[in-house]
Amino acid sequence: MKRTKIKSLLNKQATGQEVCVKGWVRTRRGSKNVSFIALNDGSTINNIQIVAEGDHLKEEVLKRITTGSAISVIGILVESKGVGQNVEVLAAGIDILGESDPDEYPLQPKKHSLDFLREKAHLRFRTNTFSAVFRLRHALTFAVHKFFNDKGFVNIHTPIITGADAEGAGEMFQVTNLNLEDTPKVNGKVDYTQDFFNIKTNLTVSGQLEAELGALSLGQVYTFGPTFRAENSNTSRHLSEFWMIEPEVAFADLEENMDLAEEFLKYCIQYCITNCEDDLRFLDSRLASEEKSLKKEERFEMGLLERLQFVIENDFERLTYSDAIDLLINSKPNKKKKFKYIIEGFGSDLQSEHERYLVEKKFKKPVIITDFPKGIKAFYMKQNEDNETVRAMDILFPLIGEIVGGSQREEDLNKLSNRMEEMEICKEELWWYLETRKFGTCVHSGFGLGFERLIMFVTGMKNIRDVIPFPRTPQNADF
Ligand code: 4AD
Ligand code: MG
Repeated sequence: MKRTKIKSLLNKQATGQEVCVKGWVRTRRGSKNVSFIALNDGSTINNIQIVAEGDHLKEEVLKRITTGSAISVIGILVESKGVGQNVEVLAAGIDILGESDPDEYPLQPKKHSLDFLREKAHLRFRTNTFSAVFRLRHALTFAVHKFFNDKGFVNIHTPIITGADAEGAGEMFQVTNLNLEDTPKVNGKVDYTQDFFNIKTNLTVSGQLEAELGALSLGQVYTFGPTFRAENSNTSRHLSEFWMIEPEVAFADLEENMDLAEEFLKYCIQYCITNCEDDLRFLDSRLASEEKSLKKEERFEMGLLERLQFVIENDFERLTYSDAIDLLINSKPNKKKKFKYIIEGFGSDLQSEHERYLVEKKFKKPVIITDFPKGIKAFYMKQNEDNETVRAMDILFPLIGEIVGGSQREEDLNKLSNRMEEMEICKEELWWYLETRKFGTCVHSGFGLGFERLIMFVTGMKNIRDVIPFPRTPQNADF
């Protein structure tokens, strides 16, 4: 008999029909005469209740139905007499597919800490929280592709191994097959002409530069791939391996870039509200109970569903970096030296405490900051007339801080080339990037969305390690 997924069973009327259902046991309780099994197969956050009555089932079988075991049940779909579900399965027969020794199985039918579950990343998929998070991660992946596809963007796969350093700043992971115990040398330095690619290569920190090449022919493109940063930042918002979505649009200026980013973020959030109601409701109440254990001043004033709705319904606040600095200089935490990094004036980089002040205290909604000082931004950003700022934009979200970073790109060959010299970026390495400014250059813009940061916002998870199945962070590449 073919199995029916629990999601579709739960939507069915109890017609007395015979069904087959397979899944993993979450709990079993009951008496000598009747057992109630909560079964989950991952198709939904909701379990189906299996009722096994003593007459039908042998004691030896029931004993093996423990938390974590995989079973197959054939039975009749009936109206449930209990509360909490409309239908249940009255078992006629149960097969144990895979036992799970209760003395060894680490997940008990109780609440485990997220820290504990991180060490059990191979099994944490089986909890309500993580199955909801990873279904939402999937929904968001799909929403990203749907959004861009519907707008006529072309998805391009940019390389993961590259000789270029897109951001000109970040630490990179080197890729080599040289014998590290005995590297070939010329004049005391490693001879990369003998390395696999004949040059020094690394894992990409961004697909942007290659995406720009695509945009300058295909018009609108986006990449959605893994990116790698070897910074030693052990925070709740940084991964060493994360996924980034980077659209790039020809003939679009910074204004259009911001409009696209805002529409895109709202679309993705709305997609989850429309399609992942059960999971979001579960995460909403999970977060509410987590918040209860926090001190009042540490709680966020809105619940999860409330904040998602709020972001969709409100225009993002747009202001320049200069205006943001003025606001911060005159802010209470700056004057009272409550910030760890005191804002002195134009040129200071914004730390996450400043971002969160602007978003959560000052404007109480997402904020887009534009026109940053050129000294704290990448070489490729469009230079403003003032010769001091660049046409950059960062989108800041409540509780997350920076979620998107982007800019209009410098399309003028001379300006770009001068800026690269000033910033000591190797022009020879990026000859192909420069040629786009030589042949048919035009205004163009793009941005990068940190995928995991978006998932954090949508799921309410507070640690980025809990929204990617197998996080890579400094000192940790388990699984
Ligand atoms: O601001 P970033 O560094 O921008 C770029 O890489 C540009 N090339 C993007 C572009 O214009 N096409 O990174 C973009 C976003 C950040 O806003 C943040 O959300 C995320 O990527 N991000 C990280 N997410 C997780 N872990 C890290 N270590 C991250 N570093 C950046
Ligand atoms: Mg950035």
